[in-house]
Amino acid sequence: RLVAFAAIQGAYNIVSKAEGKFREAMDKYGPNQPLEFPNTAYYLPIIYSVLGIKVEKLADAEPVLERCKKLLPAHIKGRIHTPYLGGTLDAGMAAILAEEIVEAIRYVEDPDFYLPTEDPDIENGRIWLGAADDTIMRKRGIEFVDGSAPGFAAIVGAAPDPETAKMIAEEYQRKNLYVFMAANQSGTTFTHQLLEAGVQIGWSTRLVPFGPDISAAVFALGFANRAAMAFGGVQPGDYRKVLLYNKDRIFAFVNALGEVNAEWAANAAGAINWGFPTIADTDIPEILPTGICTYEHVVSSVPHDQICAKSIEVRGLKVTITEVPVPVSYGPAFEGERVRKDDVYLECGGGKTPCFELVRIAEMDDVEDGKVEVMGPDIKDVQPGDRLPLGVVVEVAGRKMQEDYEPILERQIHHLVNYAQGVMHIGQRDIAWYRIGKSAVEKGFTLEHIGKILHAKLHQDFGAIFDKCQVKIYTEEDKVKELLGVAQQMYKTRDERIEGMTDETTEIYYSCTLCQSFAPTHVCVVSPERTGLCGAYNWLDCKASYEINPTGPNQPVAKGETLDERYGNWKGVNEFVEQASRGAVSSYNFYSVVYDPMTTCGCCECIAAVLPMCNGVMTVNREYMGMTPCGMKFTTLAGTIGGGNVTPGFVGHSKYNITQRKFIVGDGGLKRLVWMPKMLKEEIRERLIKRGEEIGIPNLIDMIATEEQGVTEDEILPFLQEVGHPALEMESIL
Ligand code: SF4
Ligand code: NI
Ligand code: NI
Repeated sequence: RLVAFAAIQGAYNIVSKAEGKFREAMDKYGPNQPLEFPNTAYYLPIIYSVLGIKVEKLADAEPVLERCKKLLPAHIKGRIHTPYLGGTLDAGMAAILAEEIVEAIRYVEDPDFYLPTEDPDIENGRIWLGAADDTIMRKRGIEFVDGSAPGFAAIVGAAPDPETAKMIAEEYQRKNLYVFMAANQSGTTFTHQLLEAGVQIGWSTRLVPFGPDISAAVFALGFANRAAMAFGGVQPGDYRKVLLYNKDRIFAFVNALGEVNAEWAANAAGAINWGFPTIADTDIPEILPTGICTYEHVVSSVPHDQICAKSIEVRGLKVTITEVPVPVSYGPAFEGERVRKDDVYLECGGGKTPCFELVRIAEMDDVEDGKVEVMGPDIKDVQPGDRLPLGVVVEVAGRKMQEDYEPILERQIHHLVNYAQGVMHIGQRDIAWYRIGKSAVEKGFTLEHIGKILHAKLHQDFGAIFDKCQVKIYTEEDKVKELLGVAQQMYKTRDERIEGMTDETTEIYYSCTLCQSFAPTHVCVVSPERTGLCGAYNWLDCKASYEINPTGPNQPVAKGETLDERYGNWKGVNEFVEQASRGAVSSYNFYSVVYDPMTTCGCCECIAAVLPMCNGVMTVNREYMGMTPCGMKFTTLAGTIGGGNVTPGFVGHSKYNITQRKFIVGDGGLKRLVWMPKMLKEEIRERLIKRGEEIGIPNLIDMIATEEQGVTEDEILPFLQEVGHPALEMESIL
């Protein structure tokens, strides 16, 4: 039981070091110093989820450290030989709770140590990402629930060399696992090894550099616990449920690379509480006797070329990867990688050459399933760095296929192509942009493979709605230009179709309850003129999603009797919402921010708020970090109203919705809009101008204040008066 002893010893060290740090920080910053992981609503997540303690300021850490000390087995120094099981596990837990405090204090002492973004900034040496903030959590955490990420490998230490590190990381990427990296081995880290081997790291490639110390392991465990609270409905403080949820649902394990010291052993013991075993490349004895679980807790001396397979086997993970017939690695872990300018072999589109992609229905007899034709030059006909025009036309046929599904299938092209390692795709329709990297070409990737990917994956994901699929790839300028014209005509017809639809003439709306995992009482009801507040689902998307998956999160809602035309309130919708929110919400209005607005969940693109002094409404988008005239930043707003309740005066909505005809029309519509961030204005500029013309105020766009005029009502009011903003003349908003 050597390691058990080491684990306990390590836990003692960690807790006492944490105490030292805590005392030092108390002296330096005082008890009221805020203590948190930035941009998170979950306090320090492990402490909060396991102990139910909300750490908000430095002084709150004191009772946590007291608990840590109690968790340490009482008598250690040489007297115990076989600590009982609970003793080692408790010591491990104490170590982890203490480390979370140490990492939080680091945020105070050295605010720039961790970079608050998805990906590191390698050029400027900002490598470590630290705690996942709420935005990352929302986006990535869900993948652990919906199965697109089966789990994660927490890698501590370093491989013997960069090539081995690369081999291990890529094997996990291919299996769709995340790799969370922490700790160093004699100053070398797995992260630096990946960088040296030319591997792109960050959340977007699923290789996450948390931190250089073993204490950064808390970012991995904290991520897991936040997932349990956010998606598993586990209550903070219910430590048994938190840990069980992880054991059953989050398939994670630790890979210890290099010599395991006492502190690592303490962390390994800690992770066992979560059900996460440690698989090591060195010879370490068992931390705990086997047999209390269905798997081994510690597996020693695993060769590097077997460590992935062994880890997956020990943790009992079933990894299913779809075979896509391409010569490069393929999967979501490769979606976010970039192909840099110097690495480009072939580039198409991106404003440099004509490029488009189109999915269209064809007759059954005209489609030969799986056929891929490349018409014009392919990779073999070009030199590195060359450009080609490109047209990707996917023809699908099947009895259930409808025109409405075309855009939905077409939208998949972006991520499906991006999943190929060494291939980058940006945009869609006629602004698509492809880059095929030299590394992909070296492995044998050609344009034909784009067709192979689309055929295989569309079948796999949407096989329910079509039977046959073939892909035609054009690279001859004349032909591409000719077909581009045809495609543009089709895009236009589609847009007019959805834009031509009105709420009044549509009897069936669609629900979306995808976000109930974050906000249990939240129900979006999507109408043609009110797109889902995340911006990802319009009415047609929901309709198609329902037809593809009739028991899924999008259900038809017969709107029924109109109870209030001005504010958009329908009997059938209310009944549906009441039932889907389990009684929490009995009615809401579609077209108002003032009176019983729709519920909001945390993934809204924008939040509108009433500005009483300006007699108007402001809206702010997620990307805008600054202050707003309602006195709150986006993150605060989202934290306050994003829980799935009706909050009069505030409502979440999509960017697109701002220029839809029904945008807060009950409160006066778009002409109530008095403030928005400049970046948002620029993003929707064209449509904003068009909509302004429609309502007879062509210069409305210039009358809406931005942060350039001010970020308080006092600051922007003079501007609104000067330009004669229409809101000032309207009836009182409250
Ligand atoms: Fe669905 Fe609404 Fe969530 Fe978007 S915000 S995914 S529409 S529930
Ligand atoms: Ni890619
Ligand atoms: Ni949501």
